[in-house]
Order: sequence, then structure tokens, then C-alpha cells
Amino acid sequence: MFSLAKLSPTVTDMIRFDHSHVFVTFHQFTQDKSPTVKKALSDTICAALEIHATLEEEIFYPVMQTIDPGDSALEKAPHEHADMKRLIRELRTIPGTDDLHDRVLLELMREVIHHVADEETVLLPAAERKLSKERLIELGVAMNKRRIELLAPQAGKVAISHAVGFSGSTAAWVLGAAGAIGAMLAFSAAGRKTAVQL
Ligand SMILES: [Fe+2]
Ligand SMILES: [Fe+2]
Repeated sequence: MFSLAKLSPTVTDMIRFDHSHVFVTFHQFTQDKSPTVKKALSDTICAALEIHATLEEEIFYPVMQTIDPGDSALEKAPHEHADMKRLIRELRTIPGTDDLHDRVLLELMREVIHHVADEETVLLPAAERKLSKERLIELGVAMNKRRIELLAPQAGKVAISHAVGFSGSTAAWVLGAAGAIGAMLAFSAAGRKTAVQL
């Protein structure tokens, strides 16, 4: 029987998509960008990482804890999130005109790249080996529902940061402000295909 839920992305695909969104944004961060654009890009990265970390902590990690307790990547993950959140708090206090802003953002992204490597090469494959497709989709639906709740209060602010950060950039052709926000809000409708089409 046809089921709309079966078209939803799995939790592992949603996590990979979130990582890609952060990297696409970071790849716009070049040294010749104005302080306003740099700040908008770092605001977008901070907001996306904060929501992503909360979703993983509330929905993904607890499930992994039941199927893979004691895994070293899983044990390190909350501590790495805490380090990232500390850098995010610091970054938000620094204006884009300050050289320290760039240094802290680059330090944050070094942490993110290391953390994402563990998730994508250890945790996500383990989840896909040990959980059924139905369960992965069920968790994806739960993650999307929670994402909408977390994003709703700050949707306007996030949209503005996207618009400033991506204005005039090559990535705007691929992942514009409206598309990125739409993808974050409406990932549940048609799975991975939706994100590619935005
Ligand atoms: Fe994580
Ligand atoms: Fe992640």
C-alpha cells in the first residue's frame, strides 16, 4: 500500500544533508568577503550547527546508545558538541570586522570537519547496518518534526543571514536562501530528491 511516510528521508540521509549544508555555507567563506557577508555566513553556520546538534542529541544519539553502547565515536560526540557550542557562543560575540572572528570560525570548522568525519564513517554506517529502513525513516520523520519546532522561532533571522551570506555567490545558483530554508523546513515531503531539486 502507498504510504507518504515511505517517501520521507531516513535519519541518516537527513544528517548527511545537514552536514552538506554547513559545508556549502562554509565554502562561501573566503578572505575577500566583506565583514558583513562573513558575519552572515558565520551566523548561518552557527544556527544550522546548533539545531543539528540538538536533533542528534535528542533523537539520533539515544538510539545509537541502545544499539552500539560503548562505541568510541559515540562516546566522544557529546563532548565534541559541547566544544562546538562553546566556540559558537564565542563567535557570536565577535564582530565580522575583527580578525578574531575569522580565527574562531576556522577553529569551529576544524572541530566540525573532524566530528563529521567520525559520524559519516562510523555512526551513520552503523545505524544503517543495525536499524531497519522503516526505523531509519521513522527517526527521520521525528527529526524533521523537531527541526520545524526548533527553527520556527528563528526562521526570519536565519533567512536574512542566508540572503546576505549567499548574495552574489556562485553557490546562490545551487543553494539559495529560499531553497536552504525550504530544505530545512520541508525535508519530510519527498526525501533526498527534494533537497537536490531546490
Ligand atoms: Fe554531531
Ligand atoms: Fe552531525
